[in-house]
Parts: sequence; C-alpha cells; structure tokens
Amino acid sequence: MVVVPVISSKGGVGKTTVTANLCTALAQRGRQVLAIDLDPQNALRFHIASEPQACDTGLVEAATGLMPWARAIRAAHGGVMLLPFGDVDDERQIAFEQQLARNPHWLGETLARFGLPQDMLVVLDTPPGPSVYLQQALRAASFSVVAVLADAGSFATLPIVERMLDKYTRPRADYIGTGYVVNQVDPGKRLNHDVFEVLRKQLRPDLLGVLHLDQAVPEALASAVPVQRYAPMSQATQDIASCADRLLERIAAGPQLHQQHPLSSPRSMEQTR
Ligand SMILES: Nc1ncnc2c1ncn2[C@@H]1O[C@H](COP(=O)(O)OP(=O)(O)OP(=O)(O)O)[C@@H](O)[C@H]1O
Ligand SMILES: [Mg+2]
Repeated sequence: MVVVPVISSKGGVGKTTVTANLCTALAQRGRQVLAIDLDPQNALRFHIASEPQACDTGLVEAATGLMPWARAIRAAHGGVMLLPFGDVDDERQIAFEQQLARNPHWLGETLARFGLPQDMLVVLDTPPGPSVYLQQALRAASFSVVAVLADAGSFATLPIVERMLDKYTRPRADYIGTGYVVNQVDPGKRLNHDVFEVLRKQLRPDLLGVLHLDQAVPEALASAVPVQRYAPMSQATQDIASCADRLLERIAAGPQLHQQHPLSSPRSMEQTR
C-alpha cells in the first residue's frame, strides 16, 4: 500500500481537483486506487463519485462504528474506489477530530488493518494548512503531493507545509519523497510566468508537473465527472497524465535520501531569484 496525501498550505489551490484527476489517471494506468476524502468539506465526491448525492456518509460513520468500512467505500468514475468524508455536523466533526488527536497514528493503523494489496495507491484529499487531518495524512504518507499556485501568496506560505513535511515525513527511512504540482499555470500572464520560473528552479527535481489554467477543469466539476472523461483531449487531461506518469516513476524509484527542503524557511520571491 502506497499512501499519497495531496496537501497545501493555502486553500483553494486545487488539492481536490488534483486528487480526483490523479486518481482517475492512475486507475487508467492499471493501478488499483482508493481515494479517501480527509476533508470535512466532503467535496471529493463531486469530482469523481458515480453518485455524489449518495456520499453523505463515509469515513466518520465507519470510524465511529456506525457503518461497516465495506459499505462506506463507494464506486467512483474510472474504476476508482472512494471513501467520502461524509456530511457531518459540527459536534460530530469535533468529536472525530478529538479521536484523531488522541491517536496520532489512527489513519496508518486503520489502513494497515484493511489488508490492501501492496501496490495499491491510497490517495488522500486534505484540508488546507495544519490540522489533525494533515498530521494523520503525513504520518501515514509514503509520498506527498504538494499543490501550489504560481503566485506570490502561495509561494510565501510554502514553508508552512515544508515544516510539516520535515517533521512528519522526511525523518522516516521508508518515506519515498515529495512532488509538487504547480496549478493554474497561465503562460499568458507575465507575473504568473515569472513566479512559475522561480518555483521551477527551486523545486527541481521534485516538480511532478504543471496543471495549466483550463476551463475544462471547472466545467468538468460542474458536470460531476473527472476532466479525463469531460474533455479527454484538453490541456488539463494531458497535464494530469504526465503528473501521474512522473508520480509512478518516483514511487517506483523508492525512498531517496531526504534533506531539509530549501523552502522550509521563509524567503521572499526576490531572495530566491
Ligand atoms: N487548472 C485549473 N484550471 C481552472 N480552474 C481550476 C484549476 N484547478 C482548480 N480550478 C478551480 O479552482 C477551484 C478550487 O479548486 P479545488 O477545490 O480543487 O481547490 P482546493 O485546494 O481543494 O480547495 P480547498 O482548500 O477549499 O479544499 C475549483 O473551482 C476548481 O474547479
Ligand atoms: Mg479541497
């Protein structure tokens, strides 16, 4: 079992989009994929679930013994299996978060009990920034995908996730590594282009790929299907395909020697040029 959380320090940078579309691209490449929504927004279902409305129960019900795990996991597009977070009220969400805080390794231990095939990919959508969900995801992580926008705000907050990665993943000998997806790249916009160039220099060789700004992405979401299905010839579909290929290469290469990342300490764009 290979656990791949998709994370970011800032909200709205495309984690759920990247999670959903990577899952379908990985399944298309013949891999068994379980997508888990670790975000109380419970939004992953709108990208890939075959029946999004039926995903009102899931992880929280199963974790609290109200539903068998096998019923909580649903079929999703492209042969992906989906464990939704579930629609949970504030009190149950807080109680679940307290349960996670009491047992820091709950997610890893629970997944281990599933007895999943060794090469199965478990891809986790997470909420933005530090949270008990991110702690659980990183403690269980084999390889992390960081979503980032090519803008100064996204760049400035990268050290927040880098410090979490340094703390929870990089000290582990079995941790494979980290890959970055720069989202909403728009070569027509000068500042976006400049920030992307800085990121490209900083992140190389850990850059998994880019996802261009593409109207097919929000249109696919509005149609509740993955981009590959909505617009198979689109730029976004090609971008996700190359990110999936690179991710599989990195996983196949296995754990590398991890050093503290240069972006774990805050710098301005100017200092890194
Ligand atoms: N490459 C892209 N091109 C165009 N629109 C995009 C692209 N990537 C994401 N979007 C749009 O940006 C919005 C935010 O994306 P998404 O929900 O995936 O972000 P997120 O990081 O999961 O947000 P949150 O932090 O709230 O969980 C969505 O409306 C999505 O359709
Ligand atoms: Mg999201």
